[in-house]
Amino acid sequence: MLTVKDVSKEFRLGSAVAPVLKDVSLVLAEGEFCALTGPSGSGKTTLMNLIGLMDRPTKGDIAVDGRSTRLVTSDRLAALRNQVVGFVFQSFHLLPHLSALDNVGLPLLYRGVAVRERRQRAAAALDRVGLSERVGHRPCELSGGQRQRVAIARALITKPRLLLADEPTGNLDSQSADEIISLFLELNRSFGLTSLIVTHDASVAARCTRRIAMRDGRVLDDDLRVYREFV
Ligand SMILES: Nc1ncnc2c1ncn2[C@@H]1O[C@H](COP(=O)(O)OP(=O)(O)O)[C@@H](O)[C@H]1O
Ligand SMILES: [Mg+2]
Repeated sequence: MLTVKDVSKEFRLGSAVAPVLKDVSLVLAEGEFCALTGPSGSGKTTLMNLIGLMDRPTKGDIAVDGRSTRLVTSDRLAALRNQVVGFVFQSFHLLPHLSALDNVGLPLLYRGVAVRERRQRAAAALDRVGLSERVGHRPCELSGGQRQRVAIARALITKPRLLLADEPTGNLDSQSADEIISLFLELNRSFGLTSLIVTHDASVAARCTRRIAMRDGRVLDDDLRVYREFV
């Protein structure tokens, strides 16, 4: 569903140029459940931002369903991102003063969906992640694992085809981490939700069906070396 083709990314800091990704190529097939591993600073988050269409490569191309994004406008890229990608972060990124229900409904607010439908769909998404009893709670009234479930429900509410999770279990104890990965696996199996999960945790990576390892801005190892024809 998504192809990264010879992608490099540089950041400019004054007159210095920092090459962060160097000729990265990979193919994510529909329905894959994939771990992205590597030491801190190896470029995982930078790659996730490119795959999630949050940022653009300095060189190379990201194609979604075989369609290049290199020449599309920023508006079109944002629209494609909203349509295709859901994000989950290590630190949850929930708004503290909003209930779980309103946090989950937020992406629909930005899309102009009316409050009634927003609440209905948010309640269904919270139910999907096992939090139907906690809809009225604010983040501070929830455990870390529950907060991450709220964030996952928020990511699901726009019905993404690709779920990108950047160290989603980094702030969780091992039992909650295990439960979150089980939830991702269940979503992957029941909706075929393609998932890419950045993790430092070997037990999390072990539960993924494919592991991509990065080092110094390059793909060091990839379980699946099937590179399809780039369209
Ligand atoms: N916006 C930016 N400007 C300058 N340098 C950046 C920026 N984002 C990331 N980097 C640098 O790129 C490298 C890789 O960062 P990152 O992708 O966050 O790695 P990881 O997620 O694997 O820890 C680091 O050296 C980081 O300092
Ligand atoms: Mg990172």
